[in-house]
Amino acid sequence: MPHIVVDNLIDVKYPQKVNDVEFLFKADELIGVKTPNGKFLLKVLKKEDENYLVKYDKITRPIISEIKKAYEAFIKLHEANVIFENIKGIKEKLPNKNLLNIEDDLSNIDIVEVGFGSGRHLIHLAKENPNKIILGIEIHKPSIEQVLKRLEHEKITNVRVLNHDARIILSKIPSNKLSAIYVHFPVPWDKKPHRRVINKDFIKESQRTLKKEGFLHLRTDSDNYFNYSLNEFLGFDKIDLKVKKNMPYIVSSKYEDRWKKLNKDIYDIYMINHEISPELKENFDFSFEKKLENLDFTPKIYDNFVIHIEKVFKIDDTKELIRATIGNFNRPEHIYILNDEKPVYFKKPAPIKENYLAHLELKRLFNGVS
Ligand SMILES: C[S@@+](CC[C@H](N)C(=O)[O-])C[C@H]1O[C@@H](n2cnc3c(N)ncnc32)[C@H](O)[C@@H]1O
Repeated sequence: MPHIVVDNLIDVKYPQKVNDVEFLFKADELIGVKTPNGKFLLKVLKKEDENYLVKYDKITRPIISEIKKAYEAFIKLHEANVIFENIKGIKEKLPNKNLLNIEDDLSNIDIVEVGFGSGRHLIHLAKENPNKIILGIEIHKPSIEQVLKRLEHEKITNVRVLNHDARIILSKIPSNKLSAIYVHFPVPWDKKPHRRVINKDFIKESQRTLKKEGFLHLRTDSDNYFNYSLNEFLGFDKIDLKVKKNMPYIVSSKYEDRWKKLNKDIYDIYMINHEISPELKENFDFSFEKKLENLDFTPKIYDNFVIHIEKVFKIDDTKELIRATIGNFNRPEHIYILNDEKPVYFKKPAPIKENYLAHLELKRLFNGVS
């Protein structure tokens, strides 16, 4: 991790500004920093040898160029000497325009593939639909990296990829937008069914995001997952279900090749949507009205989200920085809240339903706003 070690620091009152780097506040060992291209926290820890280790806080994830700027400004502000640094040699990873972030706009997506793995089918979709934008959602980072390389190599420009849980991402896509959603060979999770991609919420969100006559295609080699999914789909109205067994498909993925060698049965379910859904109301208001009081550190688990206040860092007698985990149970988000008369998130949580529900519950629990 890029860090510096410096000798003694002069006392400084915050806020401060050094060139274009603003030091916003100090909350125990954390310092709030704003640079032209970032807002993050530095962590300053006193070492046994009386020197100070300065590193960045991982939750607020700055980019290297901004950390460098912040370290330089920090040294200048505190009139410190650098004893060690390992940042000069670190190269910036260039942002890849095809790699999206959960905060990015998804309103131009036409087709979604969930859990694309090696990406064979994703690339096929891109070539078959040159005028459509395909979004591949995958939780496995190496698969993301591999596919990004392939896209570059093959000069494919109509694919975007997102490294996140697909069950969360669908809730960000506008209604009646997608012509197809593909879920090929999802992990069956026989022992942990709550981790399955196909579930009632996912089908509901698929139906909302699919155009009229758009379809969700599930392809699986698992009898159990097939039966389970069919039963889940049957709970929905205004859909057609088409079921096939051992039908060859245009692209054979790595998984499919493996199952074919084992002579396993392969099942397809097509869920064709006939409903026009109401527009997505995505105006999540993440503001607070008053200070959060009587904080409680026990994790709280609800049906769709979690809230866990982890630690409080003191700024002064009236202000503090709260570190918490909120949002989806499987992919919670780590956040900081600057808690004073009118609290604000140090960085806004991603605009997804689970974070918003957690935000509302935070207000209800700790400042009586319902
Ligand atoms: C068994 S592999 C199938 C890969 C590919 N579709 C194929 O047919 O070769 C399942 C893939 O789904 C991904 N995955 C599992 N759960 C996911 C989720 N909730 N959101 C996005 N991807 C997920 C896994 O990382 C894995 O790459």
